[in-house]
Amino acid sequence: MPDSPSFVDVLARVAEVEGWMTDDQARRLFDRCSRLGAGTTVVEIGSFHGRSMIVLASAAAEGVDLVAIDPHGGGDRGPQEITADQSRGDRDHVAFNTNLAEAEVADRVRHVRKMSGTALDDVDGEIDLLYVDGAHRFAPARADIVQWGARVSGGGTMLIHDSFSSIGVTLALLSTTFGSARWRYVGRSQSMAEFERVNLTSGQRGSNAIRQALQLPWFVRNVVIKVLLTVKLAPLTRLLGHKTDDWPY
Ligand SMILES: C[S@@+](CC[C@H](N)C(=O)[O-])C[C@H]1O[C@@H](n2cnc3c(N)ncnc32)[C@H](O)[C@@H]1O
Repeated sequence: MPDSPSFVDVLARVAEVEGWMTDDQARRLFDRCSRLGAGTTVVEIGSFHGRSMIVLASAAAEGVDLVAIDPHGGGDRGPQEITADQSRGDRDHVAFNTNLAEAEVADRVRHVRKMSGTALDDVDGEIDLLYVDGAHRFAPARADIVQWGARVSGGGTMLIHDSFSSIGVTLALLSTTFGSARWRYVGRSQSMAEFERVNLTSGQRGSNAIRQALQLPWFVRNVVIKVLLTVKLAPLTRLLGHKTDDWPY
C-alpha cells in the first residue's frame, strides 16, 4: 500500500483545483479525517470541483467510506451564483471527475449526484465526519444541519463552511447549534466552524451559546466587506484587515 501523502503534498494536489477552501481550512479537514479508522463514514455536502474532497480522501485511512453529495446542477454554486444552470453544472461534474482522477483518489469516493435533501437514503448508518458546504441560503443550509447533522454519531464531527460569513448559513447556525444541547462549538478556521456531537448540560449549553455569539462581530465584519466589494470599494476593506479582493471565506 502506498504511504499516506503529507499535508504539504495534499496542498500541492489541490493548488490548481478551483474552490473556496483556505489552507487553514484544508488543514482542519485533513486532521479531522486522518484520525478516523476503517469502517467509519465521511460525508461531504457540496463538492463542486473536488477541492475539499481531495483533501478528505487523501487524508482518509484505508476502509474509510467517503461520500460526496452534489447535484452538479450549476445552482447554489459559489458566491452570488444561486440560479441553476445545467450546462454549468455539467462542466462542474466533468471537472470534479477529472480532478479526483488526477489526484488519484477517484476510486476512494462515491459521488451521489443529488440534492442533499433527497440523498439521505443513499448513505447507510451513522456518519463520523460531516462536512456541510452545499447551498448557503437559510432554508437548505438549516435543513442540512438538522437532517444530516442528526446522522452524526456521538463524538463525531460536523464542519460547516461559510459560518459567520454567509448570512444564510449564520442564521441557520443561530437557529440550530447556538441553543443546541447536541453540538459543542469547537472553534473555526476562518469561516469553517467545527462542532462535536455531544450531550451538554444546561450550564454547558449557556457557555456554548456565548462562545458562538462571540463570533458575531467577525460575521458583521464579513458582511461589511462583502457590501464594500459589491459596491466596488475594495480598498476600504483593507481597513478591516481584508487583504484580497475575494469574498471572505
Ligand atoms: C461552495 S461549493 C462547494 C465547494 C467545495 N466544498 C470545495 O471546497 O471545493 C457549493 C457546491 O454545493 C453544491 N450544492 C448546491 N446545492 C446543493 C444541495 N442542495 N445539496 C448538495 N450540494 C449542493 C453546488 O452544486 C456546488 O458545487
